[in-house]
Formats: sequence, C-alpha cells, structure tokens
Amino acid sequence: MNKLYVINGPNLNMLGIREPDKYGSESYSSLVKALQTHAEENNYSIVIYQSNHEGDLVDKIQEAYFEKADGIVINPGAYTHTSIALLDALTATKIPAVEVHISNVARREDFRQVSFVRLAAKKTIMGHGLRGYFEAIDFLLGGASDDNRD
Ligand code: DQA
Repeated sequence: MNKLYVINGPNLNMLGIREPDKYGSESYSSLVKALQTHAEENNYSIVIYQSNHEGDLVDKIQEAYFEKADGIVINPGAYTHTSIALLDALTATKIPAVEVHISNVARREDFRQVSFVRLAAKKTIMGHGLRGYFEAIDFLLGGASDDNRD
C-alpha cells in the first residue's frame, strides 16, 4: 500500500476564513476529511499535517523519510518563497514531491514568483483550488514520472 504525506504550511489552517476570493470558502477540516475519504476509497495510507512553524515542517518531511513514505504533497504557504530549509529537507529525502498552491501564484505579487521548494519538486500545481491536492495525489499514485514543467 502506498503511503503519502500531505503537508501544509502557515495559515492553511485558516482556509475558509482567509481571503476566500483567493483560497475559496471550504475549511481546512473539510479538506482533511475529503483527503481521508479519498485515501480510503483509493486504498492508500495518508498522513495529513499542518503547521505554522518552519522547523516543524522540516521535522515532518524527515519523518516521511523515516516512515518510508512514497510521496509528499506539500503546500508550504508563504515558506514557498523563503525557505531553503524546506528545499534542503525535500532534497535530502529524495521522496517524490508535488508542490501545490491553491491560488495561481504566477499571477500574483513579484515576491511570490520565487519558489525554493519547486527545485526539489517533480511537479507544481497551482490555481486549481483544493482540487490541486487531489491532482497531486493522483500524479504520485500514478508513478510520478513527469518533470516539473507546470
Ligand atoms: C499559497 C500561496 C502562497 O503565496 C501564500 O503565502 C499561501 C498560500 C497557495 O496555496 O496559493 O499561504 O501557497
């Protein structure tokens, strides 16, 4: 059975409350429920984690390595644009990773155009709303052979 980690960074626990025009009206807990249901229906095991703290996110990526995860879906939130520590953690583990952004960061501020995490991701999905998480999972379950071209 495949084991996937879904890791969310700062402020993603505020889904449904924060800027619904950009991130939609669904809550974080409804995303968690939908992910758990998807895992049950598609017969893989899932670890879902959110933290507002960079070091905790690094710890979770390392845990994914020691727990022999087959893939990581990561939305690092604002740490996308700043964190070399998250890039290093993903690079160290060599676990296939997909970077997800709910909003289309390519069409937003200049400071959001940098992604350190992207350098260690097999694929980036942005602007697809919460559907992006499920597309990332489908990609990882399908063998994750693509390069990062999105
Ligand atoms: C985000 C985009 C980031 O720029 C922002 O800081 C977030 C959410 C997204 O999902 O669109 O917190 O990662």
